[in-house]
Amino acid sequence: MGIARNLSPSQLQSFQTQGFLVLESFASHEEVVAMRTRMDQLLHDFDCSSTASIFSTKNQQRTSDDYFYDSVEKISFFFEEKAFDGDGNLKQPKELSINKVGHALHEIDPVFKRVSSSDKVSSLFISLDYKRPVIIQSMYIFKQPGIGGEVVPHQDNSFLYTEPTTCTGLWLALEDATIINGCLWAIPGSHKNGLLRRFLRNEEGVHFDRPLPSYDQKDFVPIEVKAGSLVVIHGDLIHQSFENQSSKSRHAYSLHVIDTVGCEWSPDNWIRRKVDPKPLYVS
Ligand code: FE2
Repeated sequence: MGIARNLSPSQLQSFQTQGFLVLESFASHEEVVAMRTRMDQLLHDFDCSSTASIFSTKNQQRTSDDYFYDSVEKISFFFEEKAFDGDGNLKQPKELSINKVGHALHEIDPVFKRVSSSDKVSSLFISLDYKRPVIIQSMYIFKQPGIGGEVVPHQDNSFLYTEPTTCTGLWLALEDATIINGCLWAIPGSHKNGLLRRFLRNEEGVHFDRPLPSYDQKDFVPIEVKAGSLVVIHGDLIHQSFENQSSKSRHAYSLHVIDTVGCEWSPDNWIRRKVDPKPLYVS
């Protein structure tokens, strides 16, 4: 295969201890600019009169509809909850109203596909001993100035469950992420306590099987990173981000990867693919 591991023993150990790892300058300046420019174009071409699907992690049941389900194999646009006025009209330009774009940029769009399936991404998963990893979803997250909604504390394995669990999140900063504009926060070591709840889909829609656990905010640490840095997130790590009340956006591109050897994709996950995703590699 010719792709080598790219994590050092100390990086691996830090990931295993903390449940997350920051890789500075993972993406080049050119790659960051290419992704941001491409997203500018996708937004420009998006006809927002045809759709108004809102994304909220606070009220996920309400926001799950066919547009959401079908986005698994498409490039779909989800608005911020606070983007609209009382009459249902956008309060600001569409470019500043979108919460995220998902969930198949990595498969459909050439610019995002190139970065997502690059050797450096594969090398990461070789380092983490994945046998046949697949990217199960991708998201471009805007965290818009003033209205960028919070993402409540969660574990990625809740949403992308395999038995046994194998999800790892990659979160690539496309702008500097700071406490001011809504960077990630995580509870170091929280991945060691296992998965606390699951997000299930059935005929009626989606729901969590347990209420949101209460967390002590003092346990969270901010993960402030420069544009181009990658945060690798263990699937059981408890993480969140706050509303962006600043005047600066905080763009990021995220991928979630599961293994497909030695584990089973759960049929009650919200993602139901018509076509099996291609693996990054087969070891
Ligand atoms: Fe997450």
